[in-house]
Amino acid sequence: MKIFIANWKMQLSPEESVRTARRFARVFRDYKGRALLCPDFLSLAAVSKILAKSNLSLGSQDLSAFDRGAYTGEISPLDLRSLGVEYSLIGHSERRSYLQESDKLLAAKIKMALSHKIIPVLCVGENALERKQGRAMTVIKNQLKGALQSFSIADLRSLIIAYEPVWSIGTGLSCDRDKALRVKATINEWCQRGGFKKVPVLYGGSVKPDNALSFLGSDGFDGLLVGGAGLDPESFRKIADLN
Ligand code: 13P
Repeated sequence: MKIFIANWKMQLSPEESVRTARRFARVFRDYKGRALLCPDFLSLAAVSKILAKSNLSLGSQDLSAFDRGAYTGEISPLDLRSLGVEYSLIGHSERRSYLQESDKLLAAKIKMALSHKIIPVLCVGENALERKQGRAMTVIKNQLKGALQSFSIADLRSLIIAYEPVWSIGTGLSCDRDKALRVKATINEWCQRGGFKKVPVLYGGSVKPDNALSFLGSDGFDGLLVGGAGLDPESFRKIADLN
């Protein structure tokens, strides 16, 4: 079954998140697939209540590398779990670039997610310059190595990887299917070589209802990570129905 994730980023106020989550719950009333919403932290508790009896799961956009203690401003994975968070994005390119998140920090966050039974969705992807210089595959392999090399095969049983070319995020320029699938093959190969079999690989970057299908199919990605189109329940439902 494909996986569909709506990342709301910091686009909505808590009031707007509540209203939007109610609309999602209605539009997904009869949904049978695997889809989840990632609201911002301030909205998680309220959205969690709305989604509790819905067919949608809950994810967070990030989590702390610590679970309890003197870590000012951090969000504990323990508390996320108790709010019903089942998944967490880790290493989204916006956090890597605006907040300088390092591979070491991402590895610590993955460890924390796993130890609290939260499914980590590790985001990787090259920027425009790296692609232009022909370094996309090297950059992605380095990101995988940096975040995952310290884990055992057993540790990473629940891991999901999302390939999001940075130049495609929010730009309307989705990646060409064949190029995206070459990256997917590289990620699959890297995982297999490390003994991590069957890691689902999602695509993200300007996914809309009219281009989503091109990334899916039996030989395509295992799901989609959606930004802009994931704020609108009807658009996201059209995408999530391409199961
Ligand atoms: P867009 O779908 O708006 O390009 O965002 C993609 C993304 O960053 C999802 O995490």
